[in-house]
Amino acid sequence: MSNIKNIAVLGNGGREHAIAWKLAQELGQDAIFTLPGNAGIPNSHAIDISDFGAVRSFCLTHDIQWIFVGPEQALADGIVDYFQDSNIQVLGPDAASAKLESSKILSKEFMLRHGVTTASFIKFNCIKDGQAFIQSLNESFVIKLDGLAGGKGVFVCDTPKEGLEALDELQKKYGENISFLVEDKIIGDEISIIGFTDGLHIQLLQPSQDHKQLLDGDNGPNTGGMGAYCPVPFWNNKLADDIQEQIIQPTLQGIQKEAMNYRGIIYFGIMISDAGPFLLEYNVRLGDPEAEVLLPSLKSSLVELMEATLTKQLDSIQLEFEEGYFVDIVLASGGYPGSYPVGLPIDIKAMPSDILLFSAGVTKKNNHLATNGGRVINLVSHGQSFDQAIRKAYANIKNISFPQMYFRKDIGLRKNQFLKNYS
Ligand code: GLY
Repeated sequence: MSNIKNIAVLGNGGREHAIAWKLAQELGQDAIFTLPGNAGIPNSHAIDISDFGAVRSFCLTHDIQWIFVGPEQALADGIVDYFQDSNIQVLGPDAASAKLESSKILSKEFMLRHGVTTASFIKFNCIKDGQAFIQSLNESFVIKLDGLAGGKGVFVCDTPKEGLEALDELQKKYGENISFLVEDKIIGDEISIIGFTDGLHIQLLQPSQDHKQLLDGDNGPNTGGMGAYCPVPFWNNKLADDIQEQIIQPTLQGIQKEAMNYRGIIYFGIMISDAGPFLLEYNVRLGDPEAEVLLPSLKSSLVELMEATLTKQLDSIQLEFEEGYFVDIVLASGGYPGSYPVGLPIDIKAMPSDILLFSAGVTKKNNHLATNGGRVINLVSHGQSFDQAIRKAYANIKNISFPQMYFRKDIGLRKNQFLKNYS
Protein backbone atom coordinates (compact mmCIF):
# COMPACT_ATOMS: atom_id res chain seq x y z
CA MET A 1 0.00 0.00 0.00
CA SER A 2 1.23 3.47 -0.84
CA ASN A 3 2.31 5.94 1.80
CA ILE A 4 -0.18 8.46 0.53
CA LYS A 5 -1.43 10.80 3.25
CA ASN A 6 -4.24 12.96 1.90
CA ILE A 7 -6.50 12.97 -1.16
CA ALA A 8 -8.79 15.66 -2.55
CA VAL A 9 -12.01 14.64 -4.28
CA LEU A 10 -13.37 17.30 -6.66
CA GLY A 11 -17.11 17.72 -7.18
CA ASN A 12 -20.30 18.19 -5.23
CA GLY A 13 -22.69 15.32 -5.95
CA GLY A 14 -23.62 11.81 -4.90
CA ARG A 15 -20.79 10.41 -7.04
CA GLU A 16 -18.23 12.45 -5.13
CA HIS A 17 -19.77 11.42 -1.79
CA ALA A 18 -19.38 7.76 -2.83
CA ILE A 19 -15.74 8.33 -3.88
CA ALA A 20 -14.94 10.15 -0.62
CA TRP A 21 -16.75 7.47 1.43
CA LYS A 22 -14.76 4.64 -0.17
CA LEU A 23 -11.42 6.45 0.21
CA ALA A 24 -12.24 7.37 3.82
CA GLN A 25 -12.83 3.67 4.64
CA GLU A 26 -9.19 3.15 3.79
CA LEU A 27 -7.36 6.31 4.88
CA GLY A 28 -9.70 7.77 7.50
CA GLN A 29 -12.12 10.65 7.11
CA ASP A 30 -9.59 13.33 8.02
CA ALA A 31 -7.43 12.34 5.04
CA ILE A 32 -10.16 12.89 2.45
CA PHE A 33 -11.08 16.46 1.52
CA THR A 34 -13.98 17.12 -0.85
CA LEU A 35 -13.97 20.36 -2.86
CA PRO A 36 -16.49 21.92 -2.78
CA GLY A 37 -18.48 18.86 -1.65
CA ASN A 38 -21.85 19.44 -0.02
CA ALA A 39 -23.38 19.63 3.45
CA GLY A 40 -23.80 15.85 3.60
CA ILE A 41 -20.17 14.99 2.76
CA PRO A 42 -17.82 15.15 5.75
CA ASN A 43 -14.74 17.34 5.37
CA SER A 44 -16.18 19.41 2.49
CA HIS A 45 -14.52 22.76 1.70
CA ALA A 46 -16.09 25.52 -0.39
CA ILE A 47 -13.37 25.83 -3.06
CA ASP A 48 -14.28 26.78 -6.64
CA ILE A 49 -12.86 23.83 -8.60
CA SER A 50 -12.84 25.74 -11.88
CA ASP A 51 -10.11 27.88 -10.27
CA PHE A 52 -7.15 25.49 -10.52
CA GLY A 53 -4.92 27.96 -8.64
CA ALA A 54 -7.30 27.83 -5.67
CA VAL A 55 -7.32 24.01 -5.81
CA ARG A 56 -3.52 23.99 -5.87
CA SER A 57 -3.25 26.36 -2.87
CA PHE A 58 -5.70 24.22 -0.92
CA CYS A 59 -3.74 21.06 -1.73
CA LEU A 60 -0.45 22.62 -0.68
CA THR A 61 -1.92 23.91 2.58
CA HIS A 62 -3.44 20.53 3.45
CA ASP A 63 -0.57 18.31 2.32
CA ILE A 64 -2.66 16.67 -0.40
CA GLN A 65 -0.75 14.46 -2.85
CA TRP A 66 -3.51 13.09 -5.09
CA ILE A 67 -6.65 14.52 -6.67
CA PHE A 68 -9.62 12.36 -7.72
CA VAL A 69 -11.70 14.39 -10.18
CA GLY A 70 -15.45 13.66 -10.13
CA PRO A 71 -17.01 15.69 -12.98
CA GLU A 72 -15.84 15.97 -16.58
CA GLN A 73 -15.62 19.76 -16.85
CA ALA A 74 -12.40 20.11 -14.84
CA LEU A 75 -10.80 17.39 -17.00
CA ALA A 76 -11.98 19.02 -20.23
CA ASP A 77 -10.58 22.32 -18.92
CA GLY A 78 -7.15 20.77 -18.42
CA ILE A 79 -6.70 20.13 -14.70
CA VAL A 80 -4.35 17.21 -15.47
CA ASP A 81 -2.23 19.46 -17.71
CA TYR A 82 -2.24 22.20 -15.04
CA PHE A 83 -0.74 19.87 -12.40
CA GLN A 84 1.52 18.03 -14.89
CA ASP A 85 4.84 19.21 -13.49
CA SER A 86 3.89 19.41 -9.84
CA ASN A 87 4.09 16.90 -6.97
CA ILE A 88 0.31 16.67 -6.96
CA GLN A 89 -0.98 13.83 -9.12
CA VAL A 90 -4.39 14.04 -10.73
CA LEU A 91 -6.38 10.95 -11.71
CA GLY A 92 -7.79 11.55 -15.18
CA PRO A 93 -6.92 12.16 -18.83
CA ASP A 94 -5.29 15.37 -20.02
CA ALA A 95 -7.47 17.88 -21.88
CA ALA A 96 -6.64 16.42 -25.32
CA SER A 97 -7.62 12.90 -24.21
CA ALA A 98 -10.69 14.20 -22.35
CA LYS A 99 -12.04 15.10 -25.80
CA LEU A 100 -13.21 11.49 -25.94
CA GLU A 101 -16.06 12.90 -23.85
CA SER A 102 -16.01 16.63 -24.52
CA SER A 103 -16.16 16.36 -28.34
CA LYS A 104 -18.72 13.90 -29.66
CA ILE A 105 -17.31 14.28 -33.18
CA LEU A 106 -13.65 13.68 -32.27
CA SER A 107 -14.79 10.77 -30.16
CA LYS A 108 -16.68 9.13 -33.05
CA GLU A 109 -13.70 9.72 -35.34
CA PHE A 110 -11.47 8.00 -32.75
CA MET A 111 -13.88 5.02 -32.71
CA LEU A 112 -13.78 4.79 -36.52
CA ARG A 113 -9.97 5.04 -36.65
CA HIS A 114 -9.61 2.14 -34.24
CA GLY A 115 -12.40 -0.16 -35.36
CA VAL A 116 -14.63 0.27 -32.29
CA THR A 117 -18.18 -0.92 -33.07
CA THR A 118 -20.44 2.13 -33.15
CA ALA A 119 -23.40 3.54 -35.11
CA SER A 120 -22.60 5.22 -38.41
CA PHE A 121 -22.82 9.01 -38.40
CA ILE A 122 -22.48 12.20 -40.41
CA LYS A 123 -21.09 15.43 -38.98
CA PHE A 124 -22.35 18.96 -39.66
CA ASN A 125 -21.00 22.44 -39.00
CA CYS A 126 -24.20 24.39 -39.51
CA ILE A 127 -27.89 23.96 -38.72
CA LYS A 128 -28.99 24.51 -42.34
CA ASP A 129 -27.09 21.49 -43.72
CA GLY A 130 -28.38 19.33 -40.87
CA GLN A 131 -31.98 20.35 -41.57
CA ALA A 132 -31.70 19.33 -45.22
CA PHE A 133 -30.21 15.96 -44.30
CA ILE A 134 -32.73 15.19 -41.56
CA GLN A 135 -35.65 15.83 -43.90
CA SER A 136 -34.40 12.96 -46.09
CA LEU A 137 -34.38 10.39 -43.25
CA ASN A 138 -36.99 7.70 -42.81
CA GLU A 139 -35.36 5.78 -39.93
CA SER A 140 -34.96 6.87 -36.30
CA PHE A 141 -31.79 8.82 -35.57
CA VAL A 142 -29.89 10.66 -32.82
CA ILE A 143 -28.55 14.22 -32.87
CA LYS A 144 -25.53 14.96 -30.69
CA LEU A 145 -24.14 18.42 -30.09
CA ASP A 146 -20.35 18.32 -30.35
CA GLY A 147 -19.39 19.92 -26.99
CA LEU A 148 -20.26 19.29 -23.35
CA ALA A 149 -23.86 20.28 -22.70
CA GLY A 150 -24.55 18.89 -19.22
CA GLY A 151 -26.59 15.99 -20.65
CA LYS A 152 -28.76 18.36 -22.74
CA GLY A 153 -26.99 17.97 -26.08
CA VAL A 154 -28.42 14.59 -27.16
CA PHE A 155 -31.79 14.20 -28.93
CA VAL A 156 -33.23 10.80 -29.81
CA CYS A 157 -35.64 11.33 -32.73
CA ASP A 158 -38.12 9.01 -34.40
CA THR A 159 -39.28 11.41 -37.12
CA PRO A 160 -37.73 14.25 -39.18
CA LYS A 161 -40.18 16.61 -37.40
CA GLU A 162 -38.64 15.74 -34.01
CA GLY A 163 -35.18 16.24 -35.48
CA LEU A 164 -36.06 19.67 -36.88
CA GLU A 165 -37.46 20.70 -33.48
CA ALA A 166 -34.23 19.58 -31.82
CA LEU A 167 -32.18 21.62 -34.30
CA ASP A 168 -34.42 24.65 -33.65
CA GLU A 169 -33.71 24.30 -29.95
CA LEU A 170 -29.97 24.06 -30.56
CA GLN A 171 -30.05 27.04 -32.93
CA LYS A 172 -31.88 29.19 -30.36
CA LYS A 173 -29.33 28.31 -27.70
CA TYR A 174 -26.08 28.28 -29.67
CA GLY A 175 -26.70 29.96 -33.06
CA GLU A 176 -26.49 28.75 -36.70
CA ASN A 177 -22.86 27.70 -36.98
CA ILE A 178 -22.53 24.86 -34.52
CA SER A 179 -20.97 21.44 -34.84
CA PHE A 180 -23.11 18.37 -34.30
CA LEU A 181 -23.53 14.88 -35.64
CA VAL A 182 -26.46 12.77 -36.71
CA GLU A 183 -26.14 9.03 -36.14
CA ASP A 184 -28.30 5.92 -36.56
CA LYS A 185 -30.41 5.11 -33.53
CA ILE A 186 -29.41 1.73 -32.08
CA ILE A 187 -32.28 -0.07 -30.37
CA GLY A 188 -31.46 -2.20 -27.37
CA ASP A 189 -30.62 -2.17 -23.66
CA GLU A 190 -28.07 0.36 -22.47
CA ILE A 191 -25.39 -0.55 -19.95
CA SER A 192 -22.48 1.28 -18.38
CA ILE A 193 -19.10 -0.41 -18.42
CA ILE A 194 -16.70 1.65 -16.36
CA GLY A 195 -13.06 1.00 -15.62
CA PHE A 196 -9.68 2.49 -14.80
CA THR A 197 -7.00 2.83 -17.45
CA ASP A 198 -3.32 3.72 -17.14
CA GLY A 199 -3.02 4.04 -20.91
CA LEU A 200 -1.62 0.49 -21.18
CA HIS A 201 -4.27 -1.61 -19.44
CA ILE A 202 -7.92 -1.36 -18.46
CA GLN A 203 -9.37 -2.79 -15.23
CA LEU A 204 -13.15 -2.91 -15.26
CA LEU A 205 -15.53 -2.40 -12.37
CA GLN A 206 -18.83 -4.34 -12.33
CA PRO A 207 -21.26 -3.83 -15.24
CA SER A 208 -24.02 -1.44 -14.19
CA GLN A 209 -27.20 0.13 -15.48
CA ASP A 210 -28.47 3.68 -15.04
CA HIS A 211 -32.13 4.83 -15.28
CA LYS A 212 -31.90 8.12 -17.14
CA GLN A 213 -35.54 9.00 -17.61
CA LEU A 214 -37.68 10.65 -14.95
CA LEU A 215 -40.73 8.40 -15.00
CA ASP A 216 -41.37 4.71 -14.42
CA GLY A 217 -41.12 2.53 -17.51
CA ASP A 218 -38.32 4.75 -18.90
CA ASN A 219 -40.72 7.52 -19.83
CA GLY A 220 -40.56 11.29 -19.51
CA PRO A 221 -37.65 13.69 -19.83
CA ASN A 222 -34.01 12.75 -19.41
CA THR A 223 -32.41 13.48 -16.04
CA GLY A 224 -28.93 13.12 -14.60
CA GLY A 225 -30.00 9.59 -13.59
CA MET A 226 -32.76 8.39 -11.26
CA GLY A 227 -31.19 5.17 -10.02
CA ALA A 228 -28.67 2.47 -10.81
CA TYR A 229 -27.67 -1.05 -9.95
CA CYS A 230 -24.78 -3.45 -10.29
CA PRO A 231 -23.89 -6.01 -11.38
CA VAL A 232 -26.26 -6.45 -14.30
CA PRO A 233 -28.23 -9.68 -13.65
CA PHE A 234 -28.16 -10.92 -17.26
CA TRP A 235 -24.43 -10.55 -17.67
CA ASN A 236 -22.73 -13.51 -19.33
CA ASN A 237 -19.34 -14.49 -20.72
CA LYS A 238 -20.36 -14.19 -24.37
CA LEU A 239 -21.50 -10.61 -23.84
CA ALA A 240 -18.37 -9.77 -21.83
CA ASP A 241 -16.16 -11.25 -24.58
CA ASP A 242 -17.96 -9.39 -27.37
CA ILE A 243 -17.64 -6.11 -25.50
CA GLN A 244 -13.95 -6.74 -24.87
CA GLU A 245 -13.28 -7.65 -28.50
CA GLN A 246 -15.41 -5.02 -30.25
CA ILE A 247 -15.12 -2.08 -27.89
CA ILE A 248 -12.64 -2.25 -25.03
CA GLN A 249 -9.56 -3.74 -26.69
CA PRO A 250 -9.76 -1.52 -29.82
CA THR A 251 -10.18 1.49 -27.53
CA LEU A 252 -7.12 0.56 -25.50
CA GLN A 253 -5.11 0.02 -28.68
CA GLY A 254 -6.26 3.44 -29.88
CA ILE A 255 -5.14 5.08 -26.64
CA GLN A 256 -1.75 3.38 -26.99
CA LYS A 257 -1.30 4.10 -30.71
CA GLU A 258 -2.14 7.75 -30.24
CA ALA A 259 0.11 7.93 -27.15
CA MET A 260 -2.65 9.58 -25.16
CA ASN A 261 -1.83 10.90 -21.70
CA TYR A 262 -4.58 8.96 -19.96
CA ARG A 263 -4.38 7.73 -16.37
CA GLY A 264 -7.95 7.77 -15.13
CA ILE A 265 -11.43 6.48 -15.54
CA ILE A 266 -12.96 5.40 -18.81
CA TYR A 267 -16.70 4.89 -19.13
CA PHE A 268 -18.19 3.01 -22.07
CA GLY A 269 -21.89 3.78 -22.64
CA ILE A 270 -22.92 0.67 -24.58
CA MET A 271 -26.16 -0.35 -26.28
CA ILE A 272 -26.76 -4.09 -26.48
CA SER A 273 -28.81 -4.64 -29.64
CA ASP A 274 -29.92 -7.65 -31.66
CA ALA A 275 -26.69 -7.23 -33.62
CA GLY A 276 -24.49 -7.17 -30.50
CA PRO A 277 -22.89 -4.32 -28.53
CA PHE A 278 -22.47 -0.81 -29.98
CA LEU A 279 -20.53 1.94 -28.26
CA LEU A 280 -22.75 5.00 -27.84
CA GLU A 281 -20.24 7.23 -26.08
CA TYR A 282 -17.16 7.51 -23.92
CA ASN A 283 -17.06 9.43 -20.69
CA VAL A 284 -13.81 10.16 -18.90
CA ARG A 285 -15.13 9.98 -15.34
CA LEU A 286 -17.28 7.78 -13.14
CA GLY A 287 -20.99 7.76 -13.95
CA ASP A 288 -23.47 9.32 -11.56
CA PRO A 289 -25.47 7.44 -10.18
CA GLU A 290 -23.39 4.41 -11.25
CA ALA A 291 -20.53 5.36 -8.88
CA GLU A 292 -22.94 5.12 -5.94
CA VAL A 293 -23.33 1.37 -6.55
CA LEU A 294 -19.96 0.58 -8.13
CA LEU A 295 -17.84 1.86 -5.26
CA PRO A 296 -19.72 0.02 -2.47
CA SER A 297 -19.47 -3.12 -4.64
CA LEU A 298 -15.69 -2.76 -4.96
CA LYS A 299 -14.08 -4.95 -2.31
CA SER A 300 -10.54 -4.08 -3.41
CA SER A 301 -8.79 -0.94 -2.24
CA LEU A 302 -9.63 2.19 -4.22
CA VAL A 303 -6.40 3.78 -2.98
CA GLU A 304 -4.40 0.90 -4.49
CA LEU A 305 -6.42 1.08 -7.70
CA MET A 306 -5.72 4.80 -7.91
CA GLU A 307 -2.02 4.25 -7.25
CA ALA A 308 -1.74 1.48 -9.86
CA THR A 309 -3.42 3.80 -12.38
CA LEU A 310 -1.15 6.73 -11.62
CA THR A 311 2.02 4.57 -11.73
CA LYS A 312 0.88 2.67 -14.87
CA GLN A 313 0.85 -0.69 -13.09
CA LEU A 314 -2.78 -1.65 -13.49
CA ASP A 315 -1.71 -5.11 -14.70
CA SER A 316 -0.50 -5.83 -11.15
CA ILE A 317 -4.02 -5.51 -9.72
CA GLN A 318 -6.66 -8.24 -9.41
CA LEU A 319 -9.95 -6.56 -8.56
CA GLU A 320 -12.37 -8.20 -6.14
CA PHE A 321 -16.05 -7.38 -5.71
CA GLU A 322 -18.58 -7.88 -2.92
CA GLU A 323 -21.01 -10.76 -3.35
CA GLY A 324 -24.58 -9.88 -4.32
CA TYR A 325 -26.20 -6.80 -5.80
CA PHE A 326 -26.27 -3.06 -5.07
CA VAL A 327 -29.23 -0.83 -5.88
CA ASP A 328 -29.35 2.99 -5.75
CA ILE A 329 -32.59 4.95 -5.70
CA VAL A 330 -32.30 8.68 -6.28
CA LEU A 331 -34.61 10.79 -4.11
CA ALA A 332 -35.26 13.95 -6.10
CA SER A 333 -36.98 17.29 -5.67
CA GLY A 334 -40.52 17.42 -7.11
CA GLY A 335 -40.32 19.35 -10.40
CA TYR A 336 -36.83 18.11 -11.35
CA PRO A 337 -35.45 18.15 -14.09
CA GLY A 338 -37.51 21.34 -14.54
CA SER A 339 -37.70 23.97 -11.82
CA TYR A 340 -38.11 22.94 -8.18
CA PRO A 341 -38.03 24.60 -4.77
CA VAL A 342 -34.91 24.46 -2.60
CA GLY A 343 -34.32 24.91 1.12
CA LEU A 344 -36.92 22.32 2.15
CA PRO A 345 -36.10 20.47 5.39
CA ILE A 346 -34.88 16.88 5.05
CA ASP A 347 -35.82 14.44 7.78
CA ILE A 348 -33.71 11.27 8.09
CA LYS A 349 -34.67 8.59 10.62
CA ALA A 350 -32.38 5.80 11.81
CA MET A 351 -31.42 3.40 9.00
CA PRO A 352 -30.16 -0.19 9.07
CA SER A 353 -26.36 -0.08 9.10
CA ASP A 354 -26.04 -1.64 5.65
CA ILE A 355 -28.02 1.15 3.94
CA LEU A 356 -25.78 3.87 2.56
CA LEU A 357 -26.84 7.46 1.92
CA PHE A 358 -24.87 9.56 -0.56
CA SER A 359 -25.94 13.18 -0.59
CA ALA A 360 -26.09 15.36 -3.70
CA GLY A 361 -28.31 18.47 -3.71
CA VAL A 362 -28.25 19.23 0.01
CA THR A 363 -27.28 22.20 2.16
CA LYS A 364 -27.48 23.25 5.80
CA LYS A 365 -30.23 25.67 6.80
CA ASN A 366 -30.52 26.73 10.46
CA ASN A 367 -28.23 23.82 11.26
CA HIS A 368 -30.62 21.36 9.64
CA LEU A 369 -30.14 19.45 6.37
CA ALA A 370 -32.23 20.98 3.55
CA THR A 371 -32.73 20.38 -0.17
CA ASN A 372 -30.51 22.32 -2.55
CA GLY A 373 -30.75 20.61 -5.94
CA GLY A 374 -32.70 18.33 -8.25
CA ARG A 375 -31.17 15.05 -7.17
CA VAL A 376 -31.06 15.28 -3.39
CA ILE A 377 -30.00 11.95 -1.83
CA ASN A 378 -29.05 8.50 -3.12
CA LEU A 379 -30.23 5.58 -1.02
CA VAL A 380 -28.10 2.49 -1.66
CA SER A 381 -28.89 -1.04 -0.52
CA HIS A 382 -27.01 -4.33 -0.72
CA GLY A 383 -28.69 -7.73 -1.05
CA GLN A 384 -27.53 -11.26 -1.70
CA SER A 385 -30.08 -11.50 -4.50
CA PHE A 386 -31.11 -8.75 -6.91
CA ASP A 387 -34.73 -8.90 -5.66
CA GLN A 388 -33.59 -8.61 -2.07
CA ALA A 389 -31.48 -5.54 -2.84
CA ILE A 390 -34.42 -3.87 -4.61
CA ARG A 391 -36.86 -4.70 -1.80
CA LYS A 392 -34.46 -3.47 0.86
CA ALA A 393 -33.90 -0.18 -0.92
CA TYR A 394 -37.61 0.54 -1.30
CA ALA A 395 -38.39 -0.60 2.25
CA ASN A 396 -36.05 2.04 3.67
CA ILE A 397 -37.23 5.06 1.72
CA LYS A 398 -39.84 5.62 4.42
CA ASN A 399 -36.96 6.69 6.70
CA ILE A 400 -36.25 9.77 4.58
CA SER A 401 -38.64 12.56 3.81
CA PHE A 402 -38.74 16.10 2.49
CA PRO A 403 -41.65 18.01 0.96
CA GLN A 404 -42.43 16.96 -2.64
CA MET A 405 -39.84 14.15 -2.61
CA TYR A 406 -39.99 12.15 -5.85
CA PHE A 407 -38.42 8.83 -6.81
CA ARG A 408 -38.95 6.17 -9.47
CA LYS A 409 -40.78 3.06 -8.26
CA ASP A 410 -39.22 0.69 -10.78
CA ILE A 411 -35.46 0.86 -10.30
CA GLY A 412 -34.08 -2.56 -11.20
CA LEU A 413 -37.39 -3.78 -12.61
CA ARG A 414 -36.65 -3.06 -16.25
CA LYS A 415 -37.19 -5.99 -18.65
CA ASN A 416 -33.83 -5.70 -20.44
CA GLN A 417 -35.13 -7.61 -23.43
CA PHE A 418 -31.94 -7.56 -25.48
CA LEU A 419 -29.64 -8.38 -22.59
CA LYS A 420 -31.90 -11.24 -21.59
CA ASN A 421 -31.81 -12.70 -25.08
CA TYR A 422 -28.06 -12.30 -25.50
CA SER A 423 -26.29 -15.61 -25.85
N1 GLY B 1 -25.10 8.08 -15.58
C1 GLY B 1 -24.77 8.76 -16.75
C2 GLY B 1 -23.59 9.63 -16.65
O1 GLY B 1 -22.99 9.76 -15.61
O2 GLY B 1 -23.23 10.22 -17.65
